[in-house]
Amino acid sequence: MERRMLVAGNWKMYTTAGEGAVLVQDLADELSSFDGDVEVVVGPPFTGLKTVSTVIELDHLEMGLAAQDCHWESEGAFTGAIAPRMLVDLRVDYVIVGHSERREYFGETNETVNKKVKAVYSAGMVPIMCVGETLATRDSLETDSFVRDQVLAGAAGLTPEQAEQLVVAYEPIWAIGTGRTPTPESANDVARMIRATIGAMYGPPVAMKVRVLYGGSVKPENARMFFAEPDVDGALVGGAALKADSFTDIVRAAQ
Ligand code: 13P
Repeated sequence: MERRMLVAGNWKMYTTAGEGAVLVQDLADELSSFDGDVEVVVGPPFTGLKTVSTVIELDHLEMGLAAQDCHWESEGAFTGAIAPRMLVDLRVDYVIVGHSERREYFGETNETVNKKVKAVYSAGMVPIMCVGETLATRDSLETDSFVRDQVLAGAAGLTPEQAEQLVVAYEPIWAIGTGRTPTPESANDVARMIRATIGAMYGPPVAMKVRVLYGGSVKPENARMFFAEPDVDGALVGGAALKADSFTDIVRAAQ
């Protein structure tokens, strides 16, 4: 089963709309000579989605667009929140759901993650569902059970057609923004366990189609090692996605 490699940039809370437009155009320039079969996705903050979406459309860029969160309701009195259908309206393809920063600072739980995953599918987009353990959990050798529970709860209740499109990003919290990473073998072990968990939920053929990304201090220097692992199907990139040259180097490493 050939899964298409996916490299997604999570721009977090770093870019204004104008900066995002420049970044996506720089990225398009850098990638114009790239003809590898890698799906490239950019994830600006909400305020940058419209501008970046317009650049992608007008310049006919082969680039997917991701939002970094959404609400699970399609409308309502939820001041400050963004509904999935509002993202569809901006031609958003993916929504990052359950990032550890959302879980830590905004009270996201496995239950809200699951509601959002379902809402994203219902609206016609695809979730990039983030999972990953703290250092304390890793040190107490509980990574597998912790991440398995996140997957079981977060990806519950999908149709097989939805489940096979799922993208899971394995992001060990201690590796995010720290310059520290697990060994590629260790990342692959967790990615394989995630796939096996999906397999137990929806059957092995579905699990073979699900893409599992690694995230956490992915850089041009280490990306290739992670991409060489059989169960790692790409990366969710933070800091290195904010510069067109380093993000492009990571995309090239995925081909
Ligand atoms: P860094 O690549 O900056 O470690 O961030 C990873 C991440 O959180 C992507 O979602």
